[in-house]
Amino acid sequence: MRKLLASFVFICFMAECLAQSITIIPQPKSLRQPKIAANFSISPATLIVMEGNSMEKAVRFFNDYLQQFYHFKLKVVEKSSSANVIRFRYILLENETASAYNMEIDGKGVYIIGNKDEGIFYGIQTLIQLLPVPDARLKKMRPAKLAIPYVSIEDEPRFAYRGMHLDVARHFMPVDFIKKYINYLALHKLNTFHWHLTEDQGWRIEIKKYPKLTEVGGWRNGTIIGRYPGTGNDNKKYGGFYTQQQIKEIVKYAADRYITVIPEIELPGHSSAAIAAYPQLSCFPDEKTVIPANMISETSTLRQAQGDKKLVQETWGVFEDVFCPSDYTFNFLQDVIDEIIALFPSQYIHIGGDECPKEAWKRSAFCQQLIKEKGLKDEHGLQSYFIQRIEKYINSKGKKIIGWDEILEGGLAPNATVMSWRGEQGGIDAAKQKHDVIMTPGNPVYFDHTQSENEDSVTIGGYNPIEKVYAYEPIPKELNVEEAKYVLGAQANVWTEYMEYPSKVEYMVFPRMAALSEVLWSPKKKRNWSDFEKRLQVQFKRYDFWKINYSKGYFDLKASVLPTYDYNGVLWRLESKISNIIIQYRDANDSDDIGVSDYLYYEKPVVIKKKTKYEAVLLNQVGKKLGNPIFEFFSLNKATGKKIVLTNEASKNYPGDGAFTLVNGVQNEKGLARSKEFLGFSGTNCEAIIDFGTATSINEIIVHTLEQPGSWIYFPSAFDISRSDDGINFIPFNTAVNISSSSDKSRATIKLATGVNNRYIKINIINLGSIPAGNAGAGNKAWLFVDEIEVN
Ligand code: ACM
Repeated sequence: MRKLLASFVFICFMAECLAQSITIIPQPKSLRQPKIAANFSISPATLIVMEGNSMEKAVRFFNDYLQQFYHFKLKVVEKSSSANVIRFRYILLENETASAYNMEIDGKGVYIIGNKDEGIFYGIQTLIQLLPVPDARLKKMRPAKLAIPYVSIEDEPRFAYRGMHLDVARHFMPVDFIKKYINYLALHKLNTFHWHLTEDQGWRIEIKKYPKLTEVGGWRNGTIIGRYPGTGNDNKKYGGFYTQQQIKEIVKYAADRYITVIPEIELPGHSSAAIAAYPQLSCFPDEKTVIPANMISETSTLRQAQGDKKLVQETWGVFEDVFCPSDYTFNFLQDVIDEIIALFPSQYIHIGGDECPKEAWKRSAFCQQLIKEKGLKDEHGLQSYFIQRIEKYINSKGKKIIGWDEILEGGLAPNATVMSWRGEQGGIDAAKQKHDVIMTPGNPVYFDHTQSENEDSVTIGGYNPIEKVYAYEPIPKELNVEEAKYVLGAQANVWTEYMEYPSKVEYMVFPRMAALSEVLWSPKKKRNWSDFEKRLQVQFKRYDFWKINYSKGYFDLKASVLPTYDYNGVLWRLESKISNIIIQYRDANDSDDIGVSDYLYYEKPVVIKKKTKYEAVLLNQVGKKLGNPIFEFFSLNKATGKKIVLTNEASKNYPGDGAFTLVNGVQNEKGLARSKEFLGFSGTNCEAIIDFGTATSINEIIVHTLEQPGSWIYFPSAFDISRSDDGINFIPFNTAVNISSSSDKSRATIKLATGVNNRYIKINIINLGSIPAGNAGAGNKAWLFVDEIEVN
């Protein structure tokens, strides 16, 4: 009996091993394993049999991969009857798309078939994920035999457009890294690299006819330090650009990996670098570039004092000096486009179109005359005219344009594809107008947003953890079946204001790229978070093996604050995704004889009843700390943990933990980086009623808010407060109130001349409404961000 049990356990162990060893991301359409598990071994003696033309690129990729990671290559032949082979063949599959492939691994070797070489290439990406992943710490390990499990796979992508973007203008990324990035896309079965090449802060592509674009526009005299608005300028000359030769090399490198490179040349906004090189591109060539005094570099200050006017930008955001819709500009842009088209075989050219302030055009007599002449409605009509004129030119060269969703304003160019970034609405509108759409909504596919709530480096803010990316569905439910066909796919965007180096790009992109790849490749019904999570553990090992600097945010200890059953204090709940760990916590302010308090073992949510700072740590079974400790500062006050209701809900993009977020005793110290501490209201007010339970003396109300114009977030315009004893009849405060705001506009303090004693208060925090002229997003709805309502 004992022996039987032992062999049973052994078989289970084998089956388990095998089941675990198939961890493909993105999940294939169908995958079957034989009932009796077995392996095929790839060794240096294995032959690659290439039974068709044009498979060289795919085969080279595989051999390069083997060489780089396992230190051997396979011999390639055209025919062989051996069973120790990896065989590639063209066979017309049921689904005739170019990217489909089938794979069979059994006693006769590996057999990959496809309609086209592209399908063979994707088969190879799957084969790569069947190879054993050596422990990255075993540096010397050179397995001579790579065991891969018998399996049968049928696979094809769900979406035709599977993209990753990279901004190389805010921070320049070297050629080697661009190639690495393209490789990463290929390993995740993504097929489009959207290369954001021009910006206010740098022009990064050589244009032979306009050498100053890179000589002048490729360099800035300094960069702001830290998160916008920053703490000054680093005064370091910064820049770089790609020569046309390098561009060609990269485009070919990508094409060898079945990746299309779509170049983006921003117009008419985000054009400060081009204007610095050729000031006539501005409506006001003689006006100085505006960089606030606390952000400008010493060199630029000096240059402007000496008479220089235009500068490459040194800070982040949106700038008013944009391309003037003059013949000079159109001729310039057409020349640039001619050179771009010669370099990029892509059917699309991305022309930007986003965030173009209209102030310069409003002030320009030339623009006003043009609006009249062309019978345009206003400056938005002029933007539409600008885009349509460029589209006509690009169409005349046999190419199509893609633009950010602002190109919908004032009328869509006839053949344009829309990239929906300000949420999904732009994509929905464009699809309903029968235009192709690529979905890139900030929430959740902006990979410049943080993936860790315990943020350990500066990011632009927002919180897009991997589970949110995984849950993303690119087809909005507002579209019917016909309209949905216009959604070509989706893309994650990587803006690099806060990514100075390739390693930071990797840190922001991974592991989220894995989730994106499954969203875009795998059938919708195959998506399953808990199954993905299991496969992700192996993907982390692959990332170690590939030496990728990925974020460990997935493993973060998660803290949440909850109401208590009796509305007295709050509960602090700690959770971890990792099993078999220990969570400990302590009051970080509470000192004992030797200086600090002891850690306590966490068993259930901790009741917090006093103003203090807590620390929590995650330990493995032998007491080794995992990840970073987390700290939570509880600023308890009379409103903390009390019942609260909102008249209207916050935006679904910034829902916090509902109304309770405003009385959870946690006051945000990190701005948008901890955006879950805020409720965000787009254009609407935040009206809350707090029930203290019994009559409570009130002398002061402090509303904790945020002002960050670059992110369209504004301090409230007013506060309307009233009180009640029954929660139904509210009366205005009959005492003088004195409202003051902190210098950074993170708080408004409402002091009462005489205290009152009531059970309820109602406070309406009034949204600024629309974004004032001269600011990023002028005319759009302003955001109101409220973090906490403190009552003293
Ligand atoms: C964008 O993020 N401004 C497209």
